[in-house]
Amino acid sequence: MYFKSTQNSIGNALIFILSSSLTDGRGLLYVQAGEKRVLEDTFADIIGKARFGKGWSSADLARNAAVPEKRIAALEGEDRPTEEEIKRLSGALSLDPRKLAEIARSEWTPRSEKPIRMLRWIDGRIGNYPVNGYLFVDPATGEGALFDTGYSPEQVLAQIKKEKIRLVALCITHTHADHVGGADRIHAATGAPIYLHSDEFSEGSRPPQGGALLQEGMEIPVGRFRVRYRRSPGHTPGGTTFLIEPSNGLEAPVAFVGDALFAGSLGRAQSSSTYPLLLRSVREAILSLPGETRLFPGHGPATTVEEEQQHNPFFTDRF
Ligand SMILES: [Fe+2]
Repeated sequence: MYFKSTQNSIGNALIFILSSSLTDGRGLLYVQAGEKRVLEDTFADIIGKARFGKGWSSADLARNAAVPEKRIAALEGEDRPTEEEIKRLSGALSLDPRKLAEIARSEWTPRSEKPIRMLRWIDGRIGNYPVNGYLFVDPATGEGALFDTGYSPEQVLAQIKKEKIRLVALCITHTHADHVGGADRIHAATGAPIYLHSDEFSEGSRPPQGGALLQEGMEIPVGRFRVRYRRSPGHTPGGTTFLIEPSNGLEAPVAFVGDALFAGSLGRAQSSSTYPLLLRSVREAILSLPGETRLFPGHGPATTVEEEQQHNPFFTDRF
């Protein structure tokens, strides 16, 4: 599990409290138009993740970017970069300089989108570390699927009880504790299978009680909707993105991406050897979806495919 810097956690805790006050009383994900939204990752986080992905020390980055090592430490400690430093660092780290500059200058956050009637946000946390879970409910049948637990089984079970939701699936993007913690309690209370990918389990570790391993081409019915999945490894070996196509009043595709992607950033690669895999996963499994696809990450604000294509500095491609 990867915990963020205290400074960033406080920033996010603030926006989460703000967002909570904007729910409609039923826990609907609701973000007011024009609201300033705080990204999960800062310029410093992005530089740190890209350097880690390259397998470089600070000295390596200093040499490759022609930026003094003392400045690298200061920038990774949240000092403001100059234009020249942004240019040099993005060049060395294969980041997009325009997109990186936007984030360094706090000029971009994903625009607010229309609330989705079927979606409830589980505003979870471990201590002051915020984490997202999502409940998707078919209003016509009352059946629902949970996408990660948000480490908050009580909150999930209370929401289910309040709305009389019949939980039929617990879809886990990856098995880090902040995403799967409490799944056993939710399974025990509802009987819903815990869907996850077998690659999350190495020799000696086994799926939890109630675990249902994802199979190629599998579709999980949730009321009138179908949940499909795409593999998105790199943050973890069995990292999974769950997808629901528009139908029955759902206007755009929705994807629950776990920690593969954050708005304007990525989750941390497991190691420098899986960093290229993570980049490829996000490009091929997530950023290839239709531009209007709504993306719901494990941390930080929701975004869209189009926003990430245009603003995520880890991708220099033209989409
Ligand atoms: Fe994670």
